[in-house]
Amino acid sequence: MVLRDPGRDELRLRDQRGRPLHDLRISVMDRCNLRCPYCMPRETFDLSHRFLGSRERLSFDEIVRVVRTMVRLGVRKLRLTGGEPLLRPNLTDLIGDLTTLEGIEDIALTTNGMLLAKHAFELKAAGLRRVTVSLDSLDPEIFQRMSGGFSGLEEALAGIAQAQRAGLHPIKINVVVQRGVNDHTILPLLERFRGTGVSVRFIEYMDVGNRNQWRADAVVPSKELLARIAQRWPLAAIEPSYRGEVAQRYAFADGGGEVGFISSITQPFCGDCHRARLSSDGILYTCLFATHGTALRERLRSGASDDDLLALVRDIWRARTDNYSERRQARPTQNVDERKVEMFYIGG
Ligand code: GTP
Ligand code: 5AD
Ligand code: SF4
Ligand code: SF4
Repeated sequence: MVLRDPGRDELRLRDQRGRPLHDLRISVMDRCNLRCPYCMPRETFDLSHRFLGSRERLSFDEIVRVVRTMVRLGVRKLRLTGGEPLLRPNLTDLIGDLTTLEGIEDIALTTNGMLLAKHAFELKAAGLRRVTVSLDSLDPEIFQRMSGGFSGLEEALAGIAQAQRAGLHPIKINVVVQRGVNDHTILPLLERFRGTGVSVRFIEYMDVGNRNQWRADAVVPSKELLARIAQRWPLAAIEPSYRGEVAQRYAFADGGGEVGFISSITQPFCGDCHRARLSSDGILYTCLFATHGTALRERLRSGASDDDLLALVRDIWRARTDNYSERRQARPTQNVDERKVEMFYIGG
């Protein structure tokens, strides 16, 4: 199939709600070295759980090919995720390849930080711009509970410090907040990072996947956190830096930096959602809460041309109607009753 004018038409690509395709979040590894109960509850990963084998994962060349195609459809921003992406051998090779692609303006990585101190400098050297580190509490016991029994707090902090030294800026910290678990420890976390250039973002606990036994009463609405924080440190709202920004940001009035809130439960942001997600075995999803995706791997391995691939992805995006969080908001106390893809598999 020959496309008449690759580039122009595709860059005007819009889904059914007029949303462009702008970000691609790539899961490079379905395994993780932690077992956060809100994501990979330990008790649901017995020996019968089968993680992907290395041949089942997309190779770096295959990932690059998908990205190159999606750049023609408008993708400008990449985020590497997992599971834990730093468990993927030779990840810096992939980063090196992706940075050479014309059109890509930003490459970031989301990690739990366990291996970050070891890899920060080589990630930077390979061309990675910035990292986001998941860290739920500075209290060692709470950290351990929220990472499924692992005592990796010192590793995460060392990883953040090394990322700062390596210049992987701006560094962001993602904190999943659960009522009665870590919500009383948010101020010490902010205190620690205020004024360091690292920005902390609080994420409302979400009903991702089918395993975490999500309950609405464990969600702490961002508004509540905002009020608590503003009592201690006056805050001023910051304008979004781009349309569809996930976090709502506030500056500390005393110049201590900023704090963000990701409020997918109480203030869904589907209206501007321009993110696609690629699982490590090459399934393309158009929503974090999707039930189905489109398998690209077999097509990549059985001789599909770049134009075939482009037409496929373009059609998927054109047909897209996803708005899970909005639908869930209409039924605020329960999971919307659908089988969903797991977060550790599709990336955050
Ligand atoms: P930058 O602005 O590029 O730093 O990224 P971001 O704000 O999108 O942050 P990040 O990629 O770290 O996402 C933070 C968290 O927000 C994720 O781990 C998810 O928990 C949540 N999130 C990100 N994108 C979506 C989305 O499309 N839908 C929902 N419901 N949650 C999302
Ligand atoms: N709710 C909110 N955020 C979650 N994450 C994982 N599971 C959930 C959940 N149930 C976040 C992690 C990490 C990113 C990959 O996704 O904190 O920052
Ligand atoms: Fe691993 Fe991140 Fe999931 Fe925790 S949230 S289990 S660190 S992938
Ligand atoms: Fe996008 Fe789906 Fe999240 Fe809505 S729920 S913002 S459509 S990923």
